[in-house]
Amino acid sequence: MNVATGSASAQFQIVGVIGAGTMGAGIAQVAAQAGCSVKLFDARDGAANAAITRNTEALKALAAKGKLSAEEATNAAARVKSVVDLNDFHDCDLVIEAIVEDLGAKQTLFKTLETVCGDGTIFASNTSSISITAIAAGLTRPEHVVGMHFFNPAPILPLVEVVAGQLTGDDAMNRVEAAAREWKKTPVRCKSSPGFIVNRVARPFYGEALRVLEAGGADVATIDLVLREAGGFKMGAFELLDLIGLDVNLAVTKSVWNAYFQDSRFRPSLTQEEMVAGRMLGRKSGRGFYSYPEGVPTPPASPFGPAPTMVQYLTESDALDPLVDRIKAAGIKVQSRKEDDPYGAGQLRVGNATLCLNDGRSATQIAFEDDLPNVVTLDLARDFTLTRRVALARGDATTTAALADAVGLFRAISVEVSIIDDVPGMIIGRTLAMLANEGADAVLQKVADAAGVDTAMKLGVNHLEGPLETADRIGLTLFNAILVNLEGHTGDDRYRQSLLLQRKMWAGASLR
Ligand code: NAI
Repeated sequence: MNVATGSASAQFQIVGVIGAGTMGAGIAQVAAQAGCSVKLFDARDGAANAAITRNTEALKALAAKGKLSAEEATNAAARVKSVVDLNDFHDCDLVIEAIVEDLGAKQTLFKTLETVCGDGTIFASNTSSISITAIAAGLTRPEHVVGMHFFNPAPILPLVEVVAGQLTGDDAMNRVEAAAREWKKTPVRCKSSPGFIVNRVARPFYGEALRVLEAGGADVATIDLVLREAGGFKMGAFELLDLIGLDVNLAVTKSVWNAYFQDSRFRPSLTQEEMVAGRMLGRKSGRGFYSYPEGVPTPPASPFGPAPTMVQYLTESDALDPLVDRIKAAGIKVQSRKEDDPYGAGQLRVGNATLCLNDGRSATQIAFEDDLPNVVTLDLARDFTLTRRVALARGDATTTAALADAVGLFRAISVEVSIIDDVPGMIIGRTLAMLANEGADAVLQKVADAAGVDTAMKLGVNHLEGPLETADRIGLTLFNAILVNLEGHTGDDRYRQSLLLQRKMWAGASLR
């Protein structure tokens, strides 16, 4: 295949797409832009032609923006033809279905297609939640059935999860993977299992934010601000939930939760359930976690405190070192005791405050258990070298003056501060640890390899860095401590540690 000349794809010349809704129309456009002849079918009269008209407009708009030439746009649009009878798929090399998300409907469709298409035709499903093994059940050639999971909008998002059911053949996997590359997508292989990679590993992003909210840790706007400015996420969890639709997101969460036999890792949130019941669905209903058109409110400015001239590095860690370097670079003297923190966390003394990096315990618990005065916990930032913001929490026995001392340190190095309540795991620490934990379990269970999990999360949900890369960089000991302490505090099996995370930690190895 040569995309520049628009000649047909090397893997598949004639591609059938069934279902001309949001996804099917987009997939047809992607295949046509790569040079394939595409046949598009929809059970609803006129739907396929309407999709072709929309695609033609979209291609013209791309040409107007200079993303392709006018000739390429015209040729790509002309390659998609609507068909009105499934028998018209007889000469297709690949058929992708993007019909209603219903197992019975998908099985019936592929059973019919097996009688229509040649023996070599590959059948791909764009399902986001149904088992590929189940879709292939009852077919004569289950080895030809593959998941080809595009993300919405398909013409724009680069990720395609190429999913193997239990009986999928290597040849079908290899060919679909190669085709995805020819279509200028980034394929990631995975094993059929609930949520595949992205819809499974991304769950804690929403789940942990909702739990911080429910635990009274902070308000919605503060959690989002901390996720953006300390966590390095493009959007906060609540903004994103409002954009996706609380109902759509809840349906995915419930589907994954039920598919894993109600594993508490994926347990839905009562708050979200209640809001969906009240039709507070996000942007589309005018109200979700925020009200629209107003949207996300501007949060209050950071508090002030006195700038220190000196801090003591009480216990050291790799995770805290970058912050200490930044403090030194700002001209503040750092006195080190050169003692390593056993949990990979680390502590600083700033004026009256004992500033402890979040290890999954609350500030009050650390003060009590470690017999430390005036504990203020510091939430992890994705990167202390660059972060514009940190979150701090004071223990119940911590004085206001000590909190001001901690705030003063960050103001002195030009970092904004959000004060949150004394909730174990804070915001970023628990989110990053849980994303890595879920990613590690997906690797352990051979759903995908470590590089595949990271790539899928970067391309599928736009994360700056893969969850396993983050864990390796910040420290497995610290992530494990956060999970152990959260599990201890909540008694919730949700925080059980992935055996792979622990094995790599014990071996002093990395996840990647
Ligand atoms: P949609 O509702 O926009 O389009 C589905 C289309 O399929 C409709 O035009 C409908 O008339 C047609 N259809 C239904 N049953 C049919 C049948 N038996 N034969 C032929 N046509 C039939 O749905 P959407 O969002 O495009 O989803 C399609 C599939 O893609 C589902 O399996 C969904 O889970 C999956 N998916 C959806 C994503 C999304 O963000 N919307 C993302 C990734 C996957």
